[in-house]
Amino acid sequence: MRGLSGKVGVIAGGARGIGAATAKRLCEEGVKVIIGDILLDAAEETAARIMASGGDIIAIKLDGTDAVSQKTFVEAAIKAHGRLDFYHSNLAGGTGDDSNAVDITEEVLDNSLNINIKSHVLATRYAVPAMLETGGGSMIYTSSGSAISGENQRPAYAMTKNAIHALSRHVARKWGQKGIRANVICPGLIMTEAVTQFMTDKHIDGIKRHTPSHRLGQPEDIAGMVAFLASDDAAFVNGQAWHVNGGVIMRD
Ligand SMILES: NC(=O)c1ccc[n+]([C@@H]2O[C@H](COP(=O)([O-])OP(=O)(O)OC[C@H]3O[C@@H](n4cnc5c(N)ncnc54)[C@H](O)[C@@H]3O)[C@@H](O)[C@H]2O)c1
Repeated sequence: MRGLSGKVGVIAGGARGIGAATAKRLCEEGVKVIIGDILLDAAEETAARIMASGGDIIAIKLDGTDAVSQKTFVEAAIKAHGRLDFYHSNLAGGTGDDSNAVDITEEVLDNSLNINIKSHVLATRYAVPAMLETGGGSMIYTSSGSAISGENQRPAYAMTKNAIHALSRHVARKWGQKGIRANVICPGLIMTEAVTQFMTDKHIDGIKRHTPSHRLGQPEDIAGMVAFLASDDAAFVNGQAWHVNGGVIMRD
């Protein structure tokens, strides 16, 4: 990827799944990476694995829903490398039973707002001023195809993921002329542990049958899109939502 090697980037929710695959890919591209996760042990294991193959990576504890923790996370990049070039705001999970709009509890709703909206706003609050210090950078938010697909379950997930789209457009509009780009990635079904533990062979066959790119999505598919959006190849790409789903959902 052009203009990616040497950049400094942070990944929130980098201990496993999409975040961990992205950390690996970015390190292979010569990026200096800091991963933050609520699961510090898992984040440290991921960092150690990537470091063993030559990656420049640090793991720190992050609670993305906490302002002080987000501030510390961004400061860790500045302290280690003197700058921040991009922030991949990727964390999610742990909201509880997101059943339907009639049965959902207030607790699940509040958790969803906290994890899927507040964390991204806090990321933005600290990352944007830090990136402006060195002329700009890239906010990359992980949303979901669920934000637009219309499901009969997970209303809080879909609603809160949609909110990230509005946030990224706001950030692109407000700070674009100062050098900030903000984009959203909407993964389709991606075979991370968080997903595969609930899947049967029948389910997998059904998904393949309905996927134009005739295979299952892998974390590396999303990592490739993050690498692009963090790189100078995406210098004119701002305020967009990128669906990475093998063609399961097609839209302009
Ligand atoms: N896997 C899929 O099929 C899929 C599809 C669409 C969207 N997504 C999105 O992609 C992103 C990554 O998904 P994944 O499948 O890799 O999930 P995952 O559960 O493997 O990874 C999420 C990471 O976020 C961390 N995290 C959760 N809450 C946190 C907090 N408060 N502070 C810090 N870290 C926290 C978790 O510990 C975990 O390591 C999520 O935003 C998810 O909604 C995934």
